[in-house]
Amino acid sequence: MTIQLSRRTAIAMGFAFSFSAHAGAAPMRIATIGAGRMGGALGALFVKAGHEVMFSSRNPDELKDMVAALGPKARAGTVADAVAFGEVVFLLVPYSSMPDVAKAHGAALAKKPLVLDVSNPILPRDGAAGEQARKEGPGTYLASLMPGAKLVRAFNALNFAALDEFSKRSEKVGVPIAGDDAKALEIASTLIRDVGFEPVVVGSLAFGRHLLPGEPLGGPHSPAELRQIAAKLN
Ligand SMILES: NC(=O)c1ccc[n+]([C@@H]2O[C@H](COP(=O)([O-])OP(=O)(O)OC[C@H]3O[C@@H](n4cnc5c(N)ncnc54)[C@H](OP(=O)(O)O)[C@@H]3O)[C@@H](O)[C@H]2O)c1
Repeated sequence: MTIQLSRRTAIAMGFAFSFSAHAGAAPMRIATIGAGRMGGALGALFVKAGHEVMFSSRNPDELKDMVAALGPKARAGTVADAVAFGEVVFLLVPYSSMPDVAKAHGAALAKKPLVLDVSNPILPRDGAAGEQARKEGPGTYLASLMPGAKLVRAFNALNFAALDEFSKRSEKVGVPIAGDDAKALEIASTLIRDVGFEPVVVGSLAFGRHLLPGEPLGGPHSPAELRQIAAKLN
């Protein structure tokens, strides 16, 4: 079921989305499209939490050493292999590649219950696609490229090099998340909790325009801080 959530509704529902009785996520098959700095770091957290992760690249041979070091729950493949493998899919690519990813895999992605968009439109890196995504907001832009995909923005502004340390803090670091699909938000929340963070639903997919590096919601914040910051954003 896809629902449109206003920002206020989503924030108000934050506690409902907190799923206080976390029983631990059942292991899932996770695909990463992109396995560079952020894809490698985030995927490794999910492998360590017991999930099966297929990391993908246009040159999967280059991922052999990385997946060997992570053990049997990690594997490497082409992007098509990973999309076929994953129950859920994480996007960890430059926004300049989103039109190609959507064209090749959009139909398959629309069938997944969750497509987690960790990516950001960065200028000038991402060219025309980046400019358009900045103008429309990344979530709105991506939804137009991938109709039907249950998109949730998450982990967009936590640095890959600190991710492991953030995940181990005794006072949980919050991960602001934004999306329109209730089930996708629920799956994302469970997965995020499973790797040591606390999800905070800050708003709709359109509100995900605030989930960018350098923005007030970026960097490590407590869940309470994230709620306070989000409440002041339009
Ligand atoms: N670095 C961070 O700390 C951080 C934190 C949060 C979010 N992010 C965001 O996450 C995304 C990835 O950042 P990164 O730092 O991990 O970049 P990166 O190290 O340069 O890795 C980029 C990845 O994207 C893949 N890729 C590029 N074009 C592709 C295409 N057309 N089809 C499929 N895969 C493609 C590359 O795979 P190939 O092997 O095929 O080239 C590579 O695995 C960016 O949008 C970034 O803004 C980064």
